[in-house]
Amino acid sequence: MNLSFLVQITYIAASILFAFGLKFLSSPITARQGNTLSSTGMLLAVLATLAGQHIIGYQWIMIGLIIGSSLGALVALKARMTQMPEMIALLHGCGALASVFVDWVHYEKLLHLPVFSIGLVEGFTLYLSIVIGALTFSGSVIAWGKLSERLPGRPILFPGQKWVNLAILAAIVIAGTLFLMHPERIELFYSFLILSAFFGIFLVIPIGGADMPVVISVLNSYSGIVACTTGFVINNTLLIVVGALVGANGVILSIIMCKAMNRSLANVIFGGFGQLKKKSTDGVKKEAHPISAEDAFLILEAARTVIFAPGYGMAVAQAQHAVRELTLALENNGCDVKFAIHPVAGRMPGHMNVLLAEANIPYDQLLEMDTANPLMESTDVAIVIGANDTVNPAALNDKSSPIYGMPIVEVFKAKTVFVIKRSMAAGFAGVENDLFYYDNTRMIFGDAKDIVQKLGAEFKSK
Ligand code: TAP
Repeated sequence: MNLSFLVQITYIAASILFAFGLKFLSSPITARQGNTLSSTGMLLAVLATLAGQHIIGYQWIMIGLIIGSSLGALVALKARMTQMPEMIALLHGCGALASVFVDWVHYEKLLHLPVFSIGLVEGFTLYLSIVIGALTFSGSVIAWGKLSERLPGRPILFPGQKWVNLAILAAIVIAGTLFLMHPERIELFYSFLILSAFFGIFLVIPIGGADMPVVISVLNSYSGIVACTTGFVINNTLLIVVGALVGANGVILSIIMCKAMNRSLANVIFGGFGQLKKKSTDGVKKEAHPISAEDAFLILEAARTVIFAPGYGMAVAQAQHAVRELTLALENNGCDVKFAIHPVAGRMPGHMNVLLAEANIPYDQLLEMDTANPLMESTDVAIVIGANDTVNPAALNDKSSPIYGMPIVEVFKAKTVFVIKRSMAAGFAGVENDLFYYDNTRMIFGDAKDIVQKLGAEFKSK
C-alpha cells in the first residue's frame, strides 16, 4: 500500500468521523461523544496531511503548530462560558484567514512557475475563495468586537451606507472580471482581496442587537464554504468534504436561527437591523414592583407549578447549580417544575441547555419555547432568571420595537412572574422591557446566584 493511498483512506476515515461527530452534536446527550469523534477526525486529518505529499520541511510547520496550539489552549482555558460566542467568532475568522493564506501561497506558487497558466474555472475558484475568506475574516473580527463589547453592540450606520456597500461590491466584481482576463496581474488579486476585507467590515457593522446570533451562524457557514473552495483550489478532497459539511451546517443553523428570531436571512444581512428607534414617551411614569426574596418565598411555597425562563444573566452569575438546588426544594414541596428554553437565550445556540445539563437538570424538564408557552396560563409562578429580550412582550405587541416579530417565552401569561436581575437595565438588544411593569410581575433585584440561593435557603429553614 503506497503512502498517498494511505493518506486518502485516512482522509475518508476523518470525513466519516466529522459527519458522525456533527450528527452526535445535535443532541445534548450525545454532544460530548460528537466532540470526541470530531476531534479524533481532526487529529487523523492533520497527521495524514503531515505524513503526506508535498511537505518540503517540517521546521516552519512545527513552529506554527507550537505557537498556534499554545495560543489556542491558552485562550480556551482562559475563556469563560459567557465568552464562548466571541471566541467562536474569532475562530471562524482564523479559519477563514488560514484559507486565504493557503489560496494566496498557491497563487504565488503558480506565478513563480516557469510557465504561468491558470484556467478560467481555477481562476474563478481562487477569486471566490479569496473574496469569501477575506470578508469572513474581517466580518468575524467585527462580530468578535461587538460580542466582546470592544465595539458598540448597536448597529453602526452612516448616510449612504448602502451605496458604499454597493460600490465596494461592484468594485470586487470588476476586479474579479479583470483578474479572470489577466490572472497574471497580482495587483488585481490584491485589490479584490483588500476590497473584500472592507466589504466584510461594512457588512457586519450595521447589524446589531438581537440579530447577532444569525450573523455568527452565517459567518460559521462562510468559513465552511471558504474551506471548501480552498479545497478545490489546492485539490484537497478532505477540505472539500469538511468545508461542505461545515458550510451546510452553518446554513441550516442560520435558517433555524432566522426562524427563531422570525427574521429573513436577507433581512439580517442587508439591513441596519436591530436598530434602536426612539421610544415614544407617553408621559406616564411606570412603576415596577420590587419584592424581597423572603416575600417571594411565601408565594413560591404555595405554588404548584413553576416554570423557569433562564437567560444570559444566569450564565453570567453561574447560577445553574443554585437553580438545581431550588428546583429540588420546590419538587420536595410538591411543585411541578419545568424550564422554558428560548432558542437564542444566552449568547450561543444551546447555551441554556449546556448550563442546565452541567447542573444535572434532567433533559425532560427542559421544554422548547413552543411547548412551554401553552402551559404559561396555568402556571402559578414563572421565574425569569437573567433573561430579558427573550421574555420581552414588546416583541409581540410593539410594532416600532426592533425586536418586534421575534417569538418570546410568554412568561407574562403566568399568574405571577418573578424577574431576577440586578437592575432595570435593558438586555442585549438595548430595548426597554415592559414586562417589568406588569401588574403580575415582581422584580427581585440582585445577582441571580445570590437570589436563587436565598430562595433555596428559605425552603431549607422552613
Ligand atoms: P439578555 O437580553 O441579554 O439580558 C440578560 C439580562 O441578564 C440583562 O438584562 C441583565 O440585567 C441580566 N444579568 C446580567 N448579569 C446578571 C447577574 N449576574 N445576575 C442577574 N441578572 C443578570 O438575555 P436573554 O433574554 O438571554 O437574550 C439573549 C439576547 O442575546 C438576545 O437578544 C439574543 O438575540 C442575543 N444573542 C443571542 C445569541 C445566541 S445564539 N443565543 C448570540 C448573540 C446574541 P442586569 O444588568 O439588570 O442584571
